[in-house]
Amino acid sequence: MLNKLIANILPYMPKKLIWVFSKRYIAGETIEDGLLASKLLNEKGIEVTIDILGEFIHSIDEAEKNKNEYLEVIERFTDENVKGNFSLKPTSFGLLIDQEVCYNYLREVVELVASKNSFLRIDMEDSQCVDMEIDMFRKLRQEFPKHVGLVLQAYMRRTKSDLEGLNDLNSENAPISFRLCKGIYVEPENIAFKDFHEVQENFLADLKYMFENKMYAGIATHDKYLVDESKKMIQEMNIPKSMYEFQMLYGVTPELRQSIVDEGHRMRVYVPYGKQWFGYSTRRLKENPKMAQHIIKALFIRG
Ligand code: FDA
Repeated sequence: MLNKLIANILPYMPKKLIWVFSKRYIAGETIEDGLLASKLLNEKGIEVTIDILGEFIHSIDEAEKNKNEYLEVIERFTDENVKGNFSLKPTSFGLLIDQEVCYNYLREVVELVASKNSFLRIDMEDSQCVDMEIDMFRKLRQEFPKHVGLVLQAYMRRTKSDLEGLNDLNSENAPISFRLCKGIYVEPENIAFKDFHEVQENFLADLKYMFENKMYAGIATHDKYLVDESKKMIQEMNIPKSMYEFQMLYGVTPELRQSIVDEGHRMRVYVPYGKQWFGYSTRRLKENPKMAQHIIKALFIRG
């Protein structure tokens, strides 16, 4: 109840106050902020994935602006040799306005990424986007097999069959690359697992499928149980370091993150930045009010 109430009143709070607790989770407003945060993480042996924050868009002009911003960022980050790659939400490229334009913009960005020998991952959004995002990934993967990946959400009942359906794209010299996360959107029970333990079980079953089928796994979680179980699976199945990495969000569970790095596993942090941080923070909190409790903790506990 309290979480929901706080999440609802957040958009009416002063921007400066929201920034006090958002800054732990967002690198800043500018490309320089994103670069600085990424370089600091690189110095700690952690790679990054850069996400430019975009609000919900209403026109293709806005989508084009977002695409151009990605092109600029890819040039800057690769020129400066940041150890990392890029993450992108297709709705910020107009997925829900014009699918063809969105695909063409995505393709242009992936083409640049490929020319820089880098990598772009398509974030997975809410359930209305899943089929479209899988289709676009399939097409892009056929053209740029080493330079594009996708996110799958363990809370979706369909994820195991999506994995099976995409297995035909896998190959030994370019393993298909998935980020596996729990899923952040509020989805109905008929399509998504709601029970905490069921989501965990599904997460591990999906991960096992990826390893059994020699897919590259980005294990994206801050859930200590899942981290420990994933590590056990890696050991028992003798998975080489070249076939997986752990991933976490900027500012979340830094101690757990460091302990994974210290054990020698590859770690990547999702670094969001951009002028739209305010809308991003408040929207995310409304989508998942439980996160309000973490934000409130961050308000009182420093470091
Ligand atoms: P869970 O929510 O159970 O959290 C486990 C513990 O982590 C908590 O008990 C708490 O201690 C800590 N924690 C979690 N979130 C925190 C926070 N915000 N602040 C402080 N502590 C926190 N989702 C999606 O639908 N599509 C996507 O493309 C992505 N992409 C993505 C990339 C990466 C790198 C990560 C790590 C996550 C995503 N997600 C995502 C979000 C994901 O689906 C999920 O909502 C969150 O990671 C939270 O789930 P956990 O597995 O961390 O477990």
